[in-house]
Amino acid sequence: PGLAIYDPGFVNTASCRSAVTFIDGEKGILEYRGYPIEQLAESSTFLEVAYLLINGALPSKAEYEQWVHDITYHTFVHENVKSFMEGFRYDAHPMGMLMASVGALSTFYPEAGVIGDADNRMIQIIRMIAKMPTLGAWSFRNAQGKPFVYPDNELSYTANFLSMLFKMSESRYEADERLVKALDTLFILHADHEQNCSANAVRSVGSSQVDPYSAVAAGIGALYGPLHGGANEAVLRMLRRIGSKSEIPAFIEGVKNGNEKLMGFGHRVYKNYDPRAKIIKKACDDVFDVTGVNPLLEIAQELEKIALEDDYFVSRKLYPNVDFYSGLIYEAFQFPPEMFTVLFAIGRTPGWLAQWLELTQDKEQKIARPKQIYTGDRGLDFTPRDQRW
Ligand code: CMC
Repeated sequence: PGLAIYDPGFVNTASCRSAVTFIDGEKGILEYRGYPIEQLAESSTFLEVAYLLINGALPSKAEYEQWVHDITYHTFVHENVKSFMEGFRYDAHPMGMLMASVGALSTFYPEAGVIGDADNRMIQIIRMIAKMPTLGAWSFRNAQGKPFVYPDNELSYTANFLSMLFKMSESRYEADERLVKALDTLFILHADHEQNCSANAVRSVGSSQVDPYSAVAAGIGALYGPLHGGANEAVLRMLRRIGSKSEIPAFIEGVKNGNEKLMGFGHRVYKNYDPRAKIIKKACDDVFDVTGVNPLLEIAQELEKIALEDDYFVSRKLYPNVDFYSGLIYEAFQFPPEMFTVLFAIGRTPGWLAQWLELTQDKEQKIARPKQIYTGDRGLDFTPRDQRW
């Protein structure tokens, strides 16, 4: 009794057993349900990966078609959700809007709180994956001062998202297929990453047996923070500040002297090249073929080359992470920096829900309730205000 292991940030504490995602950080391996991320990014779709994460196995043709149909059917939100979102200030941060509106969905589906019922759990999961692009796109349109665009259910999941973001006329929004594929791949790469801060938030809040909308809203809150979802924005700021290739050596010297960090490099788990960064680097080419090259790309590539040959980075096993190139792609899509984390959240939703579903079925799981090492006073005598003042 009274004995507690002090592990702030749970750096060395397994909070659950999980069969969703495997990472070997030393070797740079990431697998969803046993399938390597490289193969999924190359040949799967985001909705198939979502099915895999949630159900634990790849779908048959019939299961896939049903899944895509069900998700497509649920893309619309209640009109009052639209009114709710219209109530935000013009400068509301899209992540704040997303977090609040996902939380608000719990009031539209009060039966979601009955988490013991498998059919009920699945319908809420489908709803949330389906509605996340609608809410994300509307949070973007609000910041732009543009009217919200309703889902176009004739389009694929990702093409519909682009339509709700960028459509400007009555006619159907036709996104370039290469852009649709690149964004779908980015969603796949972000779909899960085992017990990261936001997954841990979803599990921790979900362990109280609250409905999944409330648990995922907590995950969005965790992702909102700059240490979790915000690094790609910092990479862009850094590249812009460096400004030209000739300034890179001086910048690197500053990093080595401890003046600042090389953003988009290093990872708590990966001590090798982040496998997601490799895939994103390739996706850059496809996107820039359509949009024209982001001039910051040259600086990023040169920076990477120099860092990977420098003993400071080599000895500390600092490699590019997922955020080193993703911001460049998002910028090519014309997303403002505040939207980057919303894109991350849409991609991460199946992962949060897979973690939540696993939690609800885990007989060993208890309500999350860490211990503490108490450092305050004990046994003080209280003096009433009229005797203290
Ligand atoms: N630039 C320069 N030095 C670095 C960097 C960097 N980006 N990252 C780590 N180091 C150094 C650090 O100073 C330390 O050096 P020393 O041993 O001399 O004190 C050594 O490398 C070990 O670093 P650490 O801080 O113990 O590593 P960590 O596991 O606690 O931190 C990190 C991981 C991601 C917070 C850190 O690498 C970092 O701040 N990177 C830049 C921000 C970034 O790109 N974040 C995105 C992470 S990926 C997104 C996701 O998967 O959610």
